[in-house]
Amino acid sequence: MDLFSHAEFDDHEDVRFLHHRESGLRAIIALHDTTLGPAIGGCRMWPYASDGEALADVLRLSRGMTYKTAMAGLPFGGGKSVIIGDPRRDKSPELWRAFGRAVEGFGGRYYTGEDVGTTPADMDLAGGVTRFVLGRASGGSGDPSPMTARGVLAGIRVAVRHRLGRDGLAGITVALQGLGHVGMHLAELLAMEGARLVVADLDPGRAGEAARRFGARVVSGAEILETPCEVLAPCALGAVIDDHSLPRLRCAVVAGAANNQLATERHGDGLHERRILYAPDYVINAGGVINIAEELHPEGYRPERARQRLEVIGERLTEIFARAARREVPTHRVADAMAREIVARARRARAA
Ligand code: NAI
Repeated sequence: MDLFSHAEFDDHEDVRFLHHRESGLRAIIALHDTTLGPAIGGCRMWPYASDGEALADVLRLSRGMTYKTAMAGLPFGGGKSVIIGDPRRDKSPELWRAFGRAVEGFGGRYYTGEDVGTTPADMDLAGGVTRFVLGRASGGSGDPSPMTARGVLAGIRVAVRHRLGRDGLAGITVALQGLGHVGMHLAELLAMEGARLVVADLDPGRAGEAARRFGARVVSGAEILETPCEVLAPCALGAVIDDHSLPRLRCAVVAGAANNQLATERHGDGLHERRILYAPDYVINAGGVINIAEELHPEGYRPERARQRLEVIGERLTEIFARAARREVPTHRVADAMAREIVARARRARAA
């Protein structure tokens, strides 16, 4: 398993492999870049098929966090942890303490938090041995999903204005894939703005709830990506824009909360070629990290301040869309270049 020649290795600042015999902890923590400030990034627990898969995930996700915090204007860098294990079977207080000690070992250069397969209660256990944990069950900033949904709504408004020249979302059809923590909040906000909703969720109960509460039309998981609409909002899985879905899309805008919506960079180029405006995922879904970063504010966490900071999402997207239009390049490439430039500028300023 190569690290330095790995396809996802991007000159990461610090990569540590953890092993703790007593608790069975096997994990990797990667700090991608701390130029802008200490790295922030959750801890994912997943039964990876191989160590190589875990390494690829942590390298990719930590770089994504650098881009996300940079574009959100936060004074933080990017990092991530992955624990190789089954979240239903392999957790123990001892495992969380071993993980917490490793986080403490970074001396404040890395703040962890919950992610897929981990919970605020797990973070409480890790937090028993380290100060560098965000999103605890006790005294944390709570569920970030409502804030993420608000940010996505703001991003959809900007995308609709740019691509369709329309102010507001009244009468706009939004196809929403996934009615989980973020998706259901987003559906509510969209309905309040007068948008028409078409929804899909693997759980028929959630789709039924959206139909009842917001008058949404329910379609199957297979149909949602092909639904004629102004906006497709992926709020479930990653890699939804792929070779299969791309030629079938019938939307003008792709703007949703899901992480890693593009299967590959090439699929972002495909959206551009089809004149579908893509709101880069890590820009539009930054509400959650904006919210959790507020825990580190010297005056402590205040939701009103986090809500105010969400404005940056609309501002950034406006900038990305304008640059992409001027240069006739895909928005995901513009966003990546802007994120790298923000970090590079800070690095130059520090060196000067
Ligand atoms: P969640 O797990 O609460 O909800 C996901 C929903 O999608 C579930 O209701 C599930 O049944 C549904 N789903 C899964 N596969 C589907 C499919 N093929 N078709 C239709 N529905 C499907 O997750 P959550 O927290 O709402 O997050 C959604 C996405 O947003 C994820 O990709 C997550 O990484 C991303 N995200 C979430 C943030 C947050 O604050 N929760 C912050 C930033 C990104």
